[in-house]
Amino acid sequence: MSRKRVAILISGSGSNMAALADDMLADPRHPAEPVLVLSNRPGAGGLEKAAARGIATAVVDHRPFGEDRRAFEEALDAALAPHAPDILCLAGFMRILTPWFITRWEGRVLNIHPSLLPKYRGLHTHARAIAAGDREAGCTVHEVTAALDDGPILGQARVPILAGDTPETLAARVLTMEHRLYPAVLRRFAVGDRRPVVMSWPPKENGDA
Ligand code: GRF
Repeated sequence: MSRKRVAILISGSGSNMAALADDMLADPRHPAEPVLVLSNRPGAGGLEKAAARGIATAVVDHRPFGEDRRAFEEALDAALAPHAPDILCLAGFMRILTPWFITRWEGRVLNIHPSLLPKYRGLHTHARAIAAGDREAGCTVHEVTAALDDGPILGQARVPILAGDTPETLAARVLTMEHRLYPAVLRRFAVGDRRPVVMSWPPKENGDA
């Protein structure tokens, strides 16, 4: 069976992109392969990480489009088309996609969000969990639908919130699990397996779910 073609959309450092790409590039039997890393920010650190891995990159700067989200998304679509992706992985991609784009890619877009959805949709998730006195936090990989940070959950990883945690220390702990959860979910999603991946702290050494 041919490998599913994956485009990864980023806005920043691209650590999740690198984790996804490294898992695919390290295993010729992986059901998916990275074909493009696309950023809405020209200076995103993830673009260098992608180029260093020999992955094609593209930039569609959202700023010239101003509030015209549709025009930005049409440019996004045009940049994706030549690479014919089967799956889009949003990985630290900080633009909200409108129903127009989501409908065009229905059922083929994943996202990782740094909370245990449905708790803490939106931003500043770690600060909100700490402020609420939660005992645990985590991350969720979900299918992207028109509603923000919603959609069927395909995987979750839980981490403890420790005494003295700051949003930064908690974010670092959660990120460790993001880098294990997202690749595990993509492996299943690429073969049509939608059973949720469930992980808990501490991370397993061999990367098993
Ligand atoms: C991560 O916390 C991820 O959950 C969120 O963006 C943050 C940065 O991700 N979506 P990355 O290092 O750019 O992959």
